Amino acid sequence: MGPAPVAASILAIGELAPGRTTLELRAPTLVAGLRPGHALHLVRAEAGGYRLRRVAPVTKVDPLRGSVEVALQPRADGGRDSLAELRVGDALTLVGPIGRPIALDAKGSNLLLISDTEGFAWLRLLAISAVAAGRSVVFIQEAQSAHDLAPASLLPEQVELVVATTDGSLGHAGVAADLITSYASWAEQAFAAGSAALLAGAYDAAQGRRGVDRVAASAGARAKGGANRGSWMQLLLTHEIGCGSGVCGGCTLPARSGDLRLCREGPAIPMSEFRSGGTE
Ligand code: FES
Repeated sequence: MGPAPVAASILAIGELAPGRTTLELRAPTLVAGLRPGHALHLVRAEAGGYRLRRVAPVTKVDPLRGSVEVALQPRADGGRDSLAELRVGDALTLVGPIGRPIALDAKGSNLLLISDTEGFAWLRLLAISAVAAGRSVVFIQEAQSAHDLAPASLLPEQVELVVATTDGSLGHAGVAADLITSYASWAEQAFAAGSAALLAGAYDAAQGRRGVDRVAASAGARAKGGANRGSWMQLLLTHEIGCGSGVCGGCTLPARSGDLRLCREGPAIPMSEFRSGGTE
């Protein structure tokens, strides 16, 4: 049995980056329970009784306005649906929160965040919340070109933003993974979100960090309830559709400690959970 649906209305439509739409939704009863890592299911009734249902990461929360901002994720098949046609004032049904809040070490205060344009939506709220809690954040953002980057104004000014563009139009000419080792000794925890290529690069870079995952590997398999703990780096893995309540099995990830459901134990998965990971 998942969370109860909540009726919401669209207060504003914005953009995280070119072509990356956000919706600010009035949903005061949901807002207090939302944390970094959470997503919501957007549900919209379609003609013929069909109900469109999509996962949308929470990118910002405004308790005073009673609103939550979510990002519309591009469909894996590249298609469009009626969510792309929404207007201010339209109604939507929200279900959530989906997923487990991102686990932060109580001791560590230096966080390294790594994303491409796609993954930015999954880490923005973490950056905002971490700065508000007095932590230091370096955010490495990767994009094809400067035009594709999320603007710095979407992050708190205390965040140190480091840019990598593959065409060399701004910042480091290359990919985010090239820069990770520069922060490996400074950061006490790292989080990566984005394409499979970005996650693979981040994973490889983190593997080179001295002692990475040693604690987690020696501890052996963990209970699912602790799946977000134990690794220096956590990779955010997302799913597009499904029940969102851990029932259908459509988002199952085979991991070292057993099958993980991204909608319940995700989205942040410690890299020691991957079969080729760890230091064993
Ligand atoms: S989406 Fe159904 S189990 Fe995760």
